[in-house]
Amino acid sequence: MVLPLEGVKVIDFTGVQAGPACTQLLAWFGADVLKVERPGVGDVTRSQLRDVPDLDALYFTMLNSNKRSLTLNVKTPEGKKILEQLIRDADVLVENFAPGALDRMGFTWEHIQELNPRLVFGSVKGFSEGSPYADLKVYENVAQCAGGAASTTGFWDGPPTVSAAALGDSNTGMHLAIGILAALLHREKTGKGQKVAVSMQDAVLNLCRVKLRDQERLEHVGYLEEYPQYPNTPFGDAVPRGGNAGGGGQPGWVLKCKGWETDPNAYIYFTIQEQNWPLTCEAIGHPEWKDDPAYSTAKGRQPHIFDIFAEVEKWLADKTKFEAVEILRKYEVPCAPVLSMKEIAYDPALRASGSIVEVDEEKRGKFLTVGSPIKFSSFTPKITGAPLLGEHTGEVLAQLGYSADAIATLRADKVV
Ligand code: COA
Repeated sequence: MVLPLEGVKVIDFTGVQAGPACTQLLAWFGADVLKVERPGVGDVTRSQLRDVPDLDALYFTMLNSNKRSLTLNVKTPEGKKILEQLIRDADVLVENFAPGALDRMGFTWEHIQELNPRLVFGSVKGFSEGSPYADLKVYENVAQCAGGAASTTGFWDGPPTVSAAALGDSNTGMHLAIGILAALLHREKTGKGQKVAVSMQDAVLNLCRVKLRDQERLEHVGYLEEYPQYPNTPFGDAVPRGGNAGGGGQPGWVLKCKGWETDPNAYIYFTIQEQNWPLTCEAIGHPEWKDDPAYSTAKGRQPHIFDIFAEVEKWLADKTKFEAVEILRKYEVPCAPVLSMKEIAYDPALRASGSIVEVDEEKRGKFLTVGSPIKFSSFTPKITGAPLLGEHTGEVLAQLGYSADAIATLRADKVV
């Protein structure tokens, strides 16, 4: 099986989640990804949130599969020289250090270009160049707050809320991967590499585009008719938190099903699709709502939409979330059970599709990880284990012409 990125050499000078998620994707698609790590320490996620003493944490293994690992102290002249050698021979370099850290190591964009004008250089920072916050170190939740996600997530009577989805980290990595692939295609046309920069704030904002849409609508008309606040609570001058309201033109809500009193996930998401209203009325046992003007149009329903949802909950009271979806799907109601992470982990369909895979590692044994969410007709990414710290240091340095003694000295070097 020929993989699309076979032969593409990637230097993965990244850590934590945003950078590693990007390079892991490139590795799944066939690139040779060499992770450069601090001797003796490695990526901090190797030791964070460990579930088994002395083993690389799942945090690390789930973001660094299909890669190789080289330990290198880039703050020494020898380490710099080796990284320079690697850059000369690479197609892509990816980093997500704190602002200025790579420059301090001597690898400014100007120097990188001098070393290899064909190199595509991918860089993640919390904020874009020129931002008043550009100097800040940034983690996931900081980005969610700065990118518009937190102020628009949660309930109106509660504080800004961050999402469990890694909108700041993995999402930024995915954006960077798209940019790198575009730059590689661009290089085919121009012969030149380039810098591809993505800020976490921008990547979060890109996924919050419907909320920017709502801000503009609010400024034009003063209200947002699909939000639960409408029409009884006045709107302020910024998009409010809308709880579980649908973000598009189809109202929806999370509704209780049988067992909700004891099971925190006994819920479904229920959507009222305008064009499917007559069938929806049939499904929930209210055929009389089809032609009643207080129910038959979106405008008629909106003022008492929560009474309608309360009626649907009465219909759901004796049905589990799975039974409810079985019925509703026959009436083409857009809906799904709220799945717990446990249900997802053991979902046979997600295993069969390769969206969740079981990896067998020599030291850890079997563990679950996410597989490629992108499905190709010509190949299936094979997810392997993550490298041990410095597992490939010997082979990489030997290829660069270092003797066994020199390799042993370099390996013993620690970053201070
Ligand atoms: N050899 C020598 N030094 C190395 C090294 C190596 N192989 N790898 C890392 N280092 C050094 C860096 O040069 C830096 O040293 P300096 O501070 O003296 O310049 C130091 O290790 C730590 O770097 P870094 O990991 O960037 O800083 P941090 O641990 O304090 O901050 C973040 C971590 C994630 C907050 C920061 O990297 C950041 O804001 N990154 C950009 C946004 C981002 O990607 N956030 C994370 C999303 S998951």
